[in-house]
Amino acid sequence: MDSRISGFHRLSREERIRAVAEFAGLTPGDVEMLRAGSGLTPEAADLMSENVIGLMQLPLGVATNFLVNGKDYLVPMAIEEPSVIAAASNAARIARLRGGFRASADRSVTVGQIQVTGVSDPFAALQRVREHGEDLLKIANDTNPTLLKVGGGALELTGRVIDTERGRMLIIELLVDVKDAMGANTVNTMAEEIAPYVEDLAGGRVRLRILSNLATHRMARAWATFDAEATGGPDIVEGILDAYAFANADPYRCATHNKGVMNGVVAVAIATGNDTRALEAGAHTYASLGGRCRSLTRWETNKSGDLVGSIEIPAAVGTIGGATSSHPIARLSLKILGVGSAQELASVMASAALAQNFAALRALVREGIQKGHMKLHARNLAVMAGATPEILDEVVGRLYKLKRITYDDAVRIVDEVNASRRRSGGA
Ligand code: MEV
Repeated sequence: MDSRISGFHRLSREERIRAVAEFAGLTPGDVEMLRAGSGLTPEAADLMSENVIGLMQLPLGVATNFLVNGKDYLVPMAIEEPSVIAAASNAARIARLRGGFRASADRSVTVGQIQVTGVSDPFAALQRVREHGEDLLKIANDTNPTLLKVGGGALELTGRVIDTERGRMLIIELLVDVKDAMGANTVNTMAEEIAPYVEDLAGGRVRLRILSNLATHRMARAWATFDAEATGGPDIVEGILDAYAFANADPYRCATHNKGVMNGVVAVAIATGNDTRALEAGAHTYASLGGRCRSLTRWETNKSGDLVGSIEIPAAVGTIGGATSSHPIARLSLKILGVGSAQELASVMASAALAQNFAALRALVREGIQKGHMKLHARNLAVMAGATPEILDEVVGRLYKLKRITYDDAVRIVDEVNASRRRSGGA
C-alpha cells in the first residue's frame, strides 16, 4: 500500500479513518474505536497507574508519505501541538522524491547498573565480579526464561570504577538483549536479582540497581536526501546548513533544535504507548555527551546540491509489554504502523524525527514557524473566546485574515458575529 494519500488533510475525519482502515486492514472494531475516540477505559486506566480519577485525551493523527527502507508507512502520532503531523508528512513527501528514508537500529541491548559503594579496592573487586560473570549472567537469565527462549537475555557483565563527590564507586553493568520490549522491568528485575551476589563478591554496599536510560547500545539511525528544488532552492538549503551550524554552536538554540527533533520521537512514542521520558532523557544526554549540546541530526549537501540529513539517537522502544500491549490505542497504532519488531519501530521513529527537524528548519528559514501554526491557533483562540460550533468557521475565517491574532481579536470577532447573527435572525 502507498502511504501517499492524496489530499489526506482535506478529507473529513470519517474519510481519513476509512483510508487508514484500508491501508492497515483495520477491523470494524478498530474503526469504531477511532470513530468514537474511545480506547482506554477509566477502569483499565485505574489498573495502570495510581490515584486515577479520569483520562487525559490527545489528538491522534497519522503522518502520510513515509517511505522507510522501501516500505510505506502511515505513522501514528499523538500530539497536542499544531503543525507537527503536517510538517512530518510534508518532509516525508520531499524525502520520497529521492527514495525516502534509509534507517536501521541496533539490537535492543539495555544496560542495568548496580552501584557499589565503600569498596576498599574497587579495581580488584571489579576483577572478582568479572570472574563470576558467567554465574551472574545465569542468575539474571533465570529470572526470565521466556526472554531466553526468544533469543534474548543477559549477554554480558562489565563494570567501571568512577570517582564521585562521595568517593570511588564500583559500577557493575549488565547488558541485556530485551528483544521487542522496552525492557525496563526486565533489566531492573535482573539487576535486583544479582545485586546481593555482586555485593558479596565486591565486598562493599550495593545501593542502586536500575537500568540506564542512556541507551547507547540501542541506537537508531536514519538518513535521507532532500531535493534542493523541492526544499526551496539553494538559498534555503544554505539557510538550513546555517541553522544546523547555529544549533551546534549555541546551547540555547541547540535545546530548541533538538526539541523539534523530539517532536517526532515523542509523538510516535505516545501513540505507540512507549516511555517518552526515557526517550527524552536518553536523547538529550546523548546530545550532550561531548560536554556541550550538539544537534541530534546532521545536515550537509551532496555533489548535486541536494540536502542530505542524518540522525542517530538512542531509541529504547518496544512493541510488546507495558502500555504498548495494554493501551488499546497503542495496539491500534502499532497495527497501523505495521512494524514487526522494536528495531523497525525505532527505524521509523528516527525517520520521523529527521523529517520533523527538516520541516522545522525549512519553515524557520523560509516563512517562519508561526504561519503554519496560524489556522489551528485561530481555532483554539476562537474556542477560548466562546465561539460556538455554529459560528466557529466564520470566526476562524475572519481571524485568519488578520496579520497577527490575539485573544482580544477573537473575543471581539465572536461578539461581532454573534451580534450580526442576532440581527439577521431577528430580521
Ligand atoms: C516547535 O515545537 C519546534 C521548533 O521550535 C523546532 C526548531 O526551532 O527547530 C520549531
